[in-house]
Amino acid sequence: MTTYSDHLPSLDHQPYQHLFKPGFVHRRLYIDEDIFQQELLYLYGRTWLYIAHESEIANPNDFITRRVGGRPLIISRHATGSIHAFFNRCTHRGAIVCREPRGNTKGFICGYHAWTFNITGECTSVPRRQGYGKSFNLAQASLQPVARLESYRGFIFASYSKDVPSLTEHLGAAARLIDQWLDRGEKEPVVVQNGAMPFLVNANWKTIYDNAGDGYHPPFSHESMLKVFSNRYGDVDMNYYGSDFDKSPMYSKNLGNGHTFLDQRPEMHKLSAWKRQHVMPGYEVMENALIEKYGEARALSMLNASTGSGMNLNIFPNLLIIGNQIQMPEPLAANKTQLTWFATSREGVPEEINAIRMRMQEDFPSFGEVDDSANFEACQEGMASIPEMAWIDIRRHQDTKVGALDPADQLWREPMSSDLHMRTYWQRWQALMNTGATRTLVEAGVA
Ligand code: FES
Ligand SMILES: [Fe+2]
Repeated sequence: MTTYSDHLPSLDHQPYQHLFKPGFVHRRLYIDEDIFQQELLYLYGRTWLYIAHESEIANPNDFITRRVGGRPLIISRHATGSIHAFFNRCTHRGAIVCREPRGNTKGFICGYHAWTFNITGECTSVPRRQGYGKSFNLAQASLQPVARLESYRGFIFASYSKDVPSLTEHLGAAARLIDQWLDRGEKEPVVVQNGAMPFLVNANWKTIYDNAGDGYHPPFSHESMLKVFSNRYGDVDMNYYGSDFDKSPMYSKNLGNGHTFLDQRPEMHKLSAWKRQHVMPGYEVMENALIEKYGEARALSMLNASTGSGMNLNIFPNLLIIGNQIQMPEPLAANKTQLTWFATSREGVPEEINAIRMRMQEDFPSFGEVDDSANFEACQEGMASIPEMAWIDIRRHQDTKVGALDPADQLWREPMSSDLHMRTYWQRWQALMNTGATRTLVEAGVA
């Protein structure tokens, strides 16, 4: 399989090599502000990043602003339907041009000296322009677009470096899983809801990425949540985690390029995804209404497709597809990350289905995520405060020899609780950080 790393220069420069040893990574990778700044430049600066979903800018002249990999962006849709992404940074004196989170507009006026830009970022006017003389060229004052911009089935990705392979090649095996996530049920288009649930975590972004592929922690970290479900509703939702998850058909898989996949579907959807759900407000009323309208078989099929996807699809470094939701970790500092959960709905489904989806999506950020966040911050505190203890353990199932190629797709898989995810993405991290990156960016005038 060709991996993205094949496109990188040879490993001629390895300043971080001493921070890795088999099965362990050094705490400095999580706490060092210099390394964090290097990550923003070389890692976030040289790979595809998820920036938005097309449904967030559904209409002509819609825009959103968002920081991705530290860089403030404007992401917009032109009247013709074309999608654009450019740095939200005035070409004049560097001010943030648009200070609104979203809206619909024909253009942007910088608040400082009123340089004006249209929805695609072109500079359309500069007040008292004669003061710049005859050689001044409006086109050269346009907002700077990202180097590469591509969508995969509604997911918009950007790269700040033009030297990256196609998005499809970057996604590799993850693309097929995005397809599976989108094509559940009757394949109605997925809509990302405007407004989301952002919160600050006092932890490094990789602590959050670690957890996204950690199938070891749920029965312990989320014990209280699982107990509430089982005490009230019996054998529902994620209770399969209570058994020996290493014997479970659930698995962790290396998709290449730092992307990984945890598949809970063999348990979650084993009998009926819907029947496995715990009770929620309005559950019976909505179920009955659907049966009445569509008959039992079709209603059950719709309900099965409304439940959590049973997928944790981790697309390195900043797109986490979890259940029916999309999560974006945005690095703010070595010890600070903004984590945003985006709820999704489906276009053209009965309103009961979207109501059910929303009730389910309230579950985890509100209930389970507090467990995870407490762990993220506890890890950060422990790693940062004890120099005598340097190493972080990522050995689980490294030496048990239970991993195997999945005959269906020739991808490597290990039990659900493996640290395969971490070992996978750290390789990608090193490929991006340990290469001739410095030289490349100096040549590009960035560093
Ligand atoms: S900084 Fe934007 S117009 Fe001066
Ligand atoms: Fe968790």
